[in-house]
Amino acid sequence: MAGKRKTTPQQVFVDNIRQAAPYIHAHRDATFVIMFGGESVDEHFSNLIHDLALLYSLGIRLVLVHGARPQIEQRLRRAGAQIRYVNDLRVTDDDALACVKDAVGSLRVEIEARLSMGLVNTPMAGARIRVASGNFVTARPLGVRDGVDHLHTGQVRRVDADGIRQELQARRIVLLSPLGYSPTGEVFNLSAGEVAAAAAVALHADKLVLLTAEPGLRDGRRRLVRQLSLAEAERALGSRRRIGDDLRRHLELAVSGCRRGVKRAHLIDRHIDGGLLQELFTRDGVGTLVSAERYEDLQPAGIDDVGGILELIEPLEAQGVLVKRSRERLEMEIDHFLVVKRDGMILACAALYPYPGKVAELACLAVHPDYRGQGRGDSLLAAVEQRARRAGVRRLFVLTTQAAHWFRERGFRPGELADLPVKRRALYNYQRNSKVFIKELDD
Ligand SMILES: CC(C)(COP(=O)(O)OP(=O)(O)OC[C@H]1O[C@@H](n2cnc3c(N)ncnc32)[C@H](O)[C@@H]1OP(=O)(O)O)[C@@H](O)C(=O)NCCC(=O)NCCS
Repeated sequence: MAGKRKTTPQQVFVDNIRQAAPYIHAHRDATFVIMFGGESVDEHFSNLIHDLALLYSLGIRLVLVHGARPQIEQRLRRAGAQIRYVNDLRVTDDDALACVKDAVGSLRVEIEARLSMGLVNTPMAGARIRVASGNFVTARPLGVRDGVDHLHTGQVRRVDADGIRQELQARRIVLLSPLGYSPTGEVFNLSAGEVAAAAAVALHADKLVLLTAEPGLRDGRRRLVRQLSLAEAERALGSRRRIGDDLRRHLELAVSGCRRGVKRAHLIDRHIDGGLLQELFTRDGVGTLVSAERYEDLQPAGIDDVGGILELIEPLEAQGVLVKRSRERLEMEIDHFLVVKRDGMILACAALYPYPGKVAELACLAVHPDYRGQGRGDSLLAAVEQRARRAGVRRLFVLTTQAAHWFRERGFRPGELADLPVKRRALYNYQRNSKVFIKELDD
C-alpha cells in the first residue's frame, strides 16, 4: 500500500519512472515545436541540448526554432549601427541585415555543432543526431506600419510543412532560424516566436513549447498558474493583470497557436534546469500549459475507471472518511459515478444513487489531496445535482463524518435518520455515526 511504503531513493526513482512512463508512451512519434531565444545559448546551453537529445531518442519529432536577439544586438553595437524598435519589432536596414545574417548564421552553426557532439560523458553518449536546416520558411516584408518602413523585417508567409515532415520522418531534427526567404530571393529577419507558432500550426504539432526568460504566469496570490484553457488565457491577456513583456509575448504566441489548431502550448522558464523534462514527463509540470482541448474532463465513469477510483478512495476509507467499497461492488455500481480525469489519472469522483420517491444519495465525493481547494469539489457537486435534476430527483441527501461544513456551505441542511428512505435507513451504520445532510433541488 502506497501510504505504508518507506520512501527510499530507489523508491523515488521507481515512482518517477512509473510516473513518466505514460508520457514516454504518449509522446512517441508526436511532433513538438520547441522555441528558445538567443539568450538560451549561454554557459548552460549543453543542459538544454542534452534534454533535447533525450527527447529525440524517445522518438519525439523535434522542430527547434532559435531566436538570436542578443547576438544580433551585440553585432549591431559593435558595428556602431542604430538599433531601432517600433512596437517591439526591429527595423532592419541594410547594415542591420548584414548583422542579422552574420549573427543568425553563426548561431545556427553553433547549435548544429552542439547537436552533433558525441555527447561524451552524458546520459546521451553515443547518440547520433541528424539535423536539417534549410529554406523551409517563406517570408514577405512587414512593410510600412504606423508610417515606419520596416525594410528587411519580414513576416511569415508560408511554412513548407511537407518538406519539414519529410525530414522528421527520416529521423532528423529540423532547426529553424528567425530568417525567411522571399520568392524574389530576398532575406527577411523574422521573429522566432512567429516562426515557431507558424511552424506548429502548419505541422498540426502536438505541442508548441516556448522557453521564456521570465518565470511563468502567476495568479493573484503569486502562485504559478499551471494550466489554462484557451479562453482563460485570452481572458488573462485581456485583463488588467500585470504580465511582464516577455511572458505576455509568449502567452500571445501560445494563444495564437492554439486558436489555429495547436493542441497544447507550454511556457517554461528557461532558467529551470531540466524544466523541459519536468514539464513533459510529470503530471503537473513546472510551466504554464495553454490547452486548446479540455485538459481536464468531468465525465461519467466507465469500467476502466474502477482501478483509478479505488486508488483515490482507499486511503480515505482507511482514515474512516469514506465507507469501504469492494472492487466488485464498485464494478457493479460504476454507472453511478462521475470522475474528473487528467491525462488518464482520476483526480476526483462522486456518485449518485437514486431511491424511489424522487430522492437520491450523493456519495463517495472525493478529491485527491494534491488537487483540493481548486473548485473541483464544487464542479462535481454541480454535475451530480444536474444529473439528479435530469432524473427527476427533488431531494438530495448525503452522509458524512468529516465534511459537514463543506456541505452546509453549499446549501445542505442538517437532517435526521428519519429523513432517509427506508431502504437506506436499514443500511445505516451506527458505529460510523455519520451526519445526515439534505438539499432540496429546485427546477
Ligand atoms: C470535501 C472535498 C470533496 C472538497 O473538495 P475540494 O476540491 O477541495 O473542494 P473545493 O475546492 O470546491 O472547496 C474547497 C473549500 O472547501 C473547504 N473544505 C475542504 N474540505 C472541507 C471539510 N472537510 N469541511 C469543511 N470545509 C472543507 C476548503 O477549506 C475550501 O474553502 P476555502 O476556499 O474557503 O478555503 C475534499 O476535501 C475531499 O475529498 N475530502 C475527503 C472526502 C470527503 O470527506 N468527502 C465527503 C463525504 S461523501
